[in-house]
Amino acid sequence: MKATVWCAPYKVKVEEVPDPKILNRRDAIVRLTSTCICGSDLHLVDGFVPFMKPGDVIGHEPMGIVEEVGPDVDSSKLKKGDRVIVPFPIGCGECWFCRNQLWSCCDNTNPKPYLGEEMFGQATAGIFGYSHLTGGYAGAQAQYLRVPIADVNCQKMPTDLDDHKLVFLSDILPTGYMAAQHCNIGPEDVVAIWGCGPVGQFTIQSAKLLGARIVVAIDNGRMVPERLEMARRSGAITIDNSSEDVYERLLDISGGIGPDVCIDAVGMEAHGSNALEHVYDKVKTWTFGETERPAVIRQCIECVRKCGTVSIPGVYGGLSDKIPVGALMNKGLTIKTGQTHVHKYVPELLEFIKQGRIDPSFVVTHRVPLSEAPHAYHIFREKLDGCIKVVLDPAA
Ligand SMILES: NC(=O)c1ccc[n+]([C@@H]2O[C@H](COP(=O)([O-])OP(=O)(O)OC[C@H]3O[C@@H](n4cnc5c(N)ncnc54)[C@H](O)[C@@H]3O)[C@@H](O)[C@H]2O)c1
Ligand SMILES: [Zn+2]
Ligand SMILES: [Zn+2]
Repeated sequence: MKATVWCAPYKVKVEEVPDPKILNRRDAIVRLTSTCICGSDLHLVDGFVPFMKPGDVIGHEPMGIVEEVGPDVDSSKLKKGDRVIVPFPIGCGECWFCRNQLWSCCDNTNPKPYLGEEMFGQATAGIFGYSHLTGGYAGAQAQYLRVPIADVNCQKMPTDLDDHKLVFLSDILPTGYMAAQHCNIGPEDVVAIWGCGPVGQFTIQSAKLLGARIVVAIDNGRMVPERLEMARRSGAITIDNSSEDVYERLLDISGGIGPDVCIDAVGMEAHGSNALEHVYDKVKTWTFGETERPAVIRQCIECVRKCGTVSIPGVYGGLSDKIPVGALMNKGLTIKTGQTHVHKYVPELLEFIKQGRIDPSFVVTHRVPLSEAPHAYHIFREKLDGCIKVVLDPAA
């Protein structure tokens, strides 16, 4: 089959690789009909995630049709021919974390040796196509995917809705939703969201859905005016950080106290809030003084009102420098974060989609054949051609 493989930093290719096979008795093979490129994949391509090996198949936002099931897959839950989305974290369904709906922290799906245990204290869940730190599972930017513990991890979908309405249930729609839902948003609340990429867009929609009074979206109007425009269409007030002072504008909008909730939907490759900060973080990462650029976390902590909440769906992987812990502590802030517990949110969000309360397809700007993945990575990474979200078509 064809698959997108990681070759080295800044280099992905589409290559012929062996078709996946049933390896364990509860596996299924899914023939993919749509599979997306995520901002998280850019962290792999840009060399921010260690433990990648040349030839690793990447991708973790797929949907498709079940082609084959292993002999122990529970047939009351999953059968050949079912249409499914596959959440990016792999759950076992039985450990303490899965039973408590904390799927991205599953204790059983990140196989030994637990690289994550060294770095994080305990290993977190396996993730499709996301380095050997998360289990080294083959990814989903491919024509077929092997799904372990398939009756737990494949989520059945209705047949009467388009792929583009459903495929984002695998990751970014639950991610935006969890980022907002974590913050107990009330009807008086001002919610500020950094980053108007696909995750930011779904965070904006989720904050609105959960009843925020004002949603503010922040990004760079010189680089990505189309993303700020999309945010305005969802009802957000926008701040262009290339020409406006984010802190001052947020104070104005929130009646002088700062937003109740600040959400970092940018992650480890943030641009600094000023040139000096950006150069500082770049030099620090080049010299291994930190592994990522936490500029948005710093700004969220600075801007949020006292006793407010900072929610961090943006991905971080290692060690960050100059996080203002003094402000965090003295302002009495709550921090919420995590890889998304996708399985938990699928039923509720699918219901919203069926009711027409949310139509996730609005983020799609490009649908291209899987064979064009390298070009698609290029335009998504460089923010060219108005690119906001790419869906790859494995059958084209
Ligand atoms: N927690 C999870 O489970 C989960 C799931 C999916 C994605 N993510 C993460 O969410 C983040 C966003 O993903 P995406 O697909 O939207 O990525 P993206 O790269 O398309 O979007 C990031 C946006 O942030 C903007 N940005 C950069 N620096 C900024 C700054 N200082 N202030 C404001 N905006 C800034 C960029 O211009 C860009 O528009 C990534 O870190 C990704 O890894 C997390
Ligand atoms: Zn993703
Ligand atoms: Zn588990």
